[in-house]
Amino acid sequence: MGLFLKKSIDQLMADTAESTKGLKRTLTAFSLIALGIGAIIGAGLFVRTATAAAQSAGPSVTLGFIVAAIGCALAGLCYAELSSSIPISGSAYTYTYATMGEFLAWIIGWDLILEYAVGAATVGIAWSEYLNNLLVNVFHTSPIPYSLSHSPFQKLVDPVTHQVLEHGLINLPALFIVALISMLLIRGTQESAFVNGIIVVVKVAIVILIIIFGWQFINPANHSPYIPPASTYTDEHGVSFNFGGFWGIIGAAGTVFFAFIGFDAVSTAAQETINPKRNMPIGILGSLAVCTVLYVLFAHVLTGVATVEDFRTGGKEASVAFAISKYMTGYEWLAQLVTVAILAGFSSVILVMLLGQSRVFYSMGKDGLLPKFFGDIHPKYKTPYKANLVILVIVGLFAAFIPGDIVGDMTSIGTLFAFILVCISVIVLRKTEPNMKREFKTPWVPVVPILGALVCFLMILGLGWPNWLRLVGWLAIGFIIYFGYSKKHSVLRNTGTTVDPVDPPAPK
Ligand code: ALA
Repeated sequence: MGLFLKKSIDQLMADTAESTKGLKRTLTAFSLIALGIGAIIGAGLFVRTATAAAQSAGPSVTLGFIVAAIGCALAGLCYAELSSSIPISGSAYTYTYATMGEFLAWIIGWDLILEYAVGAATVGIAWSEYLNNLLVNVFHTSPIPYSLSHSPFQKLVDPVTHQVLEHGLINLPALFIVALISMLLIRGTQESAFVNGIIVVVKVAIVILIIIFGWQFINPANHSPYIPPASTYTDEHGVSFNFGGFWGIIGAAGTVFFAFIGFDAVSTAAQETINPKRNMPIGILGSLAVCTVLYVLFAHVLTGVATVEDFRTGGKEASVAFAISKYMTGYEWLAQLVTVAILAGFSSVILVMLLGQSRVFYSMGKDGLLPKFFGDIHPKYKTPYKANLVILVIVGLFAAFIPGDIVGDMTSIGTLFAFILVCISVIVLRKTEPNMKREFKTPWVPVVPILGALVCFLMILGLGWPNWLRLVGWLAIGFIIYFGYSKKHSVLRNTGTTVDPVDPPAPK
């Protein structure tokens, strides 16, 4: 049998009928927007904004946010069609299995590890940076030593003399938070809607406070020129980036794209949404619009308060708290509040990402593309605990030993690639399954999916060759596993059907 063996839509719907039985339509457009905002504001805004300003765009990182938002809006409309027609755990992996066959489904499932697992590691590393900030600036104690809170590929460089002061060894706090949240997930502890609600309010409030109080500290000199002339920036590891001009903005878009990851969570709630035809696009575009406005204003303030040089040196870590403490005299309390809120906010993002990853591994284990034990459910807690443990090892290794910038960009490029496949799936499925029931239809097909794929591809280009190589390397490892293991063990390939053990509880 060929590589393009597909699951039939009917089979998928039968698989899912049990797991989605009894879901009530309770979500309004407003609750969808809140869900989206809760899932997305995190390390992307509070850490990657400064990175993008330092490496790629200076103040024009704001324009990068707008490009990234356009890509997400277009891809989001495609996600919504697929998730409303194939509402089953496994996200883009499952959609692709039905539309473009097993091999591409494998690629996307493998690629989603970059979005969820490597993404969780990125936020874990950002958590570690803010934890040190908490110890120093809130508790006034010493930080965790540099070597124990940084990867072996990082070094502390004196901003003036450029001398190497210290080397990293292992990022223990990042490992700790990932392990803690994995344990919570194994126990089946899901974030309650109430806690999620509080975190959403706190996150949005912090962003708004920074915009309002920071505005008066904007130094116009930091915004001039707003779009720096095109040049090259080489960081302390000798890696070069396109800085300024058009490619600077596109590179920044690829980096801050991370800040929007998670909005696809909205599209997975189609079955619980009242009038999804109307409310789904409002939920997706609404949460993106609210976040884009907040992000652009926030980035405008941050790059106005501190200099690009700050973000390249001392303000590299916990950049927001750094900018407030250094430049906003009288607002130390805000820096402290931000630090506490960010630590809580990051934890909830890590939880959502680890949960998403376990759902993908669970589906792949069930399908036989990964060892069967990935689909095993804990007898007592009813969670895919073996998948969670493997994820803990993978995410833990990334979090402990790879620098945040690298895992952050790997997350962006992996997710962008997944988005492109999702856009293409919509076009393919309209041709191959024209009569399938679609709760929500992407407008202007094929224009919207094609534009979505193009904008995402542009951002991939902007991320530069080291990231293209990482993506290709990652996919190459995936091919080896597919041809060495998955193809031989595929349940669909061997039996012509899929088995369907009881689904774990749906993520909230
Ligand atoms: N969008 C999420 C964040 O920025 C992943 O942390």
